[in-house]
Amino acid sequence: PPNGYLRPAGAPLTVIAHRGASAAAPENTLVAQEIARRSGADFVENDVQPSRDGVPFVLHDTTVDRTTDGSGAIRTLTAAQLKALDAGSWFAPQYAGARLPTLAEQLADLRTRGGNLLLEIKGAHTRDEVARIIEVIRAEKMTARVFVQSFEVDALRYTRELAPELPTGLLRSGLDADPVAVARELGVTAYNPTGTALLARPSVVADLHAAGVAVMAWTVDSPAQWQQLERIGTDGIITNRPAELAGWNAAG
Ligand code: G3P
Ligand code: CA
Repeated sequence: PPNGYLRPAGAPLTVIAHRGASAAAPENTLVAQEIARRSGADFVENDVQPSRDGVPFVLHDTTVDRTTDGSGAIRTLTAAQLKALDAGSWFAPQYAGARLPTLAEQLADLRTRGGNLLLEIKGAHTRDEVARIIEVIRAEKMTARVFVQSFEVDALRYTRELAPELPTGLLRSGLDADPVAVARELGVTAYNPTGTALLARPSVVADLHAAGVAVMAWTVDSPAQWQQLERIGTDGIITNRPAELAGWNAAG
């Protein structure tokens, strides 16, 4: 089927809010998600990892140290322990009491309020752990509004096997020698490198498009780079400044 994530000529860039509106509110919390949604972002981006008892939680780092009042690796803490942490005070006093969301809570919030999720499976996951993520997406009836991405090739392979209906994107820090071959081999919907890597070899966008693969660049916060990426045909941009990118889109 044609790839619905390819941006038609002249259409606006897809706006993807990195960790929610992470410049305005504590990253990866429901309040950051709500600000992102209201700013006109097409997708909220998050990071998912399991608790010790296997519940998918939304957290970027492997430990809770930086973004909560607790400490320790997420995989050593139970869902109940994670839920007791304050995930807002570190950012600003007004966010005291914000909690780490589970994936289920985040999806339920998007389902009722509207919005799509670019869900990053963060770090190596077993097949069973990926299966649990998919179970949650299906239980929340959000399959049509979730796009899965990962740096982890195995996590993408498990997702493709277990839920072929979900679009998938391969995250890369640099460009592969042959991005089209890599994307084809994995069967992904999108190839998602850094904006900097992409601008160093812009012809890659047309090559991927010719192969039916979309391109979403991360994490780009400057209008000068939005413009360069737009010009070379990039489909979507992951940004910490979703309100500004949505405004730039509307002005352009
Ligand atoms: O969406 C891509 C980007 O989020 C990858 O980097 O470290 O912010 O998860 P990171
Ligand atoms: Ca991420």
